[in-house]
Amino acid sequence: MTMDETELVVASRASAADGVLLLTLRHPLGEPLPAWEPGAHVDLVLRPDLERQYSLCGDPADRQAWRIAVLREPDGRGGSAYLHERTAVGDKLRVRGPRNHFRLEPSPRYRFIAGGIGITPILPMLAAAEAAGAQWTLLYGGRTRGSMAFLTELGRYGDRVTLAPQDETGPLDLAAVLDGVPDGTLVYCCGPGPLLDAVQERCPPGILRVERFTPKERRHADGDGAFDVVLARSGRTVTVAPGVSVLDAVRAAGAEVLWSCTEGTCGTCETDVLQGTPDHRDSVLTDEERAAGETMLICVSRCRGKRLVLDL
Ligand code: FES
Repeated sequence: MTMDETELVVASRASAADGVLLLTLRHPLGEPLPAWEPGAHVDLVLRPDLERQYSLCGDPADRQAWRIAVLREPDGRGGSAYLHERTAVGDKLRVRGPRNHFRLEPSPRYRFIAGGIGITPILPMLAAAEAAGAQWTLLYGGRTRGSMAFLTELGRYGDRVTLAPQDETGPLDLAAVLDGVPDGTLVYCCGPGPLLDAVQERCPPGILRVERFTPKERRHADGDGAFDVVLARSGRTVTVAPGVSVLDAVRAAGAEVLWSCTEGTCGTCETDVLQGTPDHRDSVLTDEERAAGETMLICVSRCRGKRLVLDL
């Protein structure tokens, strides 16, 4: 849990594309909402057992309203159905955040790649890249043109945006975007796991930034052993058994920790590592951050060894 939970009102509902619901959220008393930057997401607490993360896809300069787009996922875990079917204008939603693990780093050149609802964090990035005078292109794929949100808004960017509805153009031409990228280019990609994996495989090292909505790595593995976690602030030692997460173990021991997704995708539970080597299993940290080993996502990651000292 985080302490920054607030109740916002659904100010409008609209269709952004086939199966994509666009919600605008406002403070019930009209107070300004917390500042955010492109790439940020919020947690919607839909029920005590149902929390979902959604990227903010409006204008960061608009402190009166947040905008999120929700894809209807028939096989999803219930969050999208809840929002599509049970929310009405005037309803209150519990919201935490925003938080950002997908920041737009300054660069003279960007290649943006979005698949389906993965356009949501990318959309405000385009405006920021544009305002910064960067060179950029977007490759945006979807099942069909009708399923792709924000086509009207993207129209203003002209031929810097390449639309690739799969039923018209086939699979995304990643080679055209990623082969021979000039030095100093950053690649930002958000979309389904297979797209992110394909981009990761093709992209030169060090320049790719991704956001995953679904976990990339396995949470538990055969052969996971027990290890000790020392809570540096209290000096207590907690044993983490196989099949139990560090998060659950330290919470059971009374440590105050923040969490949301519990599957290594939202970044809320990121914790500083003071000693020991994490076994990273999240979908948030970059390769550099993993190698540095200074933080870990304790809802899924474990220990390479027998002992971790955490700043808890
Ligand atoms: S709680 Fe979401 S990454 Fe750990």
